[in-house]
Amino acid sequence: MSFFQEGIFVEEANFFNVSEYQVLDSDVSKMKEAIKNALANSVENVWVVVSFGKKLWATLSGTTLEKLEDFKTLDGKNGFQMPATQTDLFFRVLGTDQSTVLDKTIQIEEALKGTFKVVLSENGFTYKDHRDLTGFVDGSANPKEEKKYVAALIAEGEAGANGSYVFHQKWVHNLEKFNELPVSIQEKIIGRTKEDSIELEGDDMPDNSHVSRTDAKHDGVAMKIWRRSFPYGSALERGLFFIAYTCDPFRVDIQLERMLGNTEDQVSDRIMEFSTAVSGAYSFAPSVEDLNKALL
Ligand code: HEM
Repeated sequence: MSFFQEGIFVEEANFFNVSEYQVLDSDVSKMKEAIKNALANSVENVWVVVSFGKKLWATLSGTTLEKLEDFKTLDGKNGFQMPATQTDLFFRVLGTDQSTVLDKTIQIEEALKGTFKVVLSENGFTYKDHRDLTGFVDGSANPKEEKKYVAALIAEGEAGANGSYVFHQKWVHNLEKFNELPVSIQEKIIGRTKEDSIELEGDDMPDNSHVSRTDAKHDGVAMKIWRRSFPYGSALERGLFFIAYTCDPFRVDIQLERMLGNTEDQVSDRIMEFSTAVSGAYSFAPSVEDLNKALL
């Protein structure tokens, strides 16, 4: 029996950082040492989830996972695009105190310095009652209780059991454009009511709403994923850092293709008129046992 990385399912955190790193020095023992030092528990009260791009995981673990691929740029209907910015190593730090989350983020960067180079780092927070900066609650349809483990973790008996495939995608919002719209239209774009996050039903739910595009089934199986996105924002830029854990990256692929309109109906997600994807990468968050083995 192996254990998943605890931070994947922590729900009480309010502050977040995601940092993405590229290999600078491919000496295997140096990389292992640097990652071990980055994970050393010198900051209290934070959770850390570490995940690896395909190539780095193969190098460190000596194993490959059939379903772990680099993210490839996706082009969709109506000129929408989701760019790939695949990197090697991902640290997600979360906690209930902004200071400790930043302390741990810095400690990780210092431990990796010289061996890995940070290429993307975003801080985020829980906005109001778990809302995206558009004002809509984000996470309402996330699987609950036991179902979240089934959605997020590779099943027992499969390669990489109790690990999880992770999809990371930074979105930049055009809030001015979104906020100009009456709430009734915003609700049609998302597919839920703004105040209470109640899903629209029947004829009220448009085909091009975000919920219609992402609430997907394949061969009768609901493509459930465990979303852990966070809003970020400043006077310069604001948006959502989308993060999803899944037992099978195919589930995310299907949702992305449906958002882009790469489906028989060619309907794309209206959310992309108001937000632009600027990064995209896949990684693998191994179980604690597989992680320890890979770092030996
Ligand atoms: C600009 C970026 C995005 C924003 C602002 C956003 C926001 C939201 C909101 C407000 C909801 C409704 C409440 C909820 O159930 O959580 C939602 C639902 C959902 N989103 Fe997103 N989202 C974004 C990108 C994505 C992406 C890239 C994916 C897939 C890879 C995705 C997958 C989902 C799923 C699976 C649901 C639940 C659908 C259902 O079963 O009802 N979202 N999102």
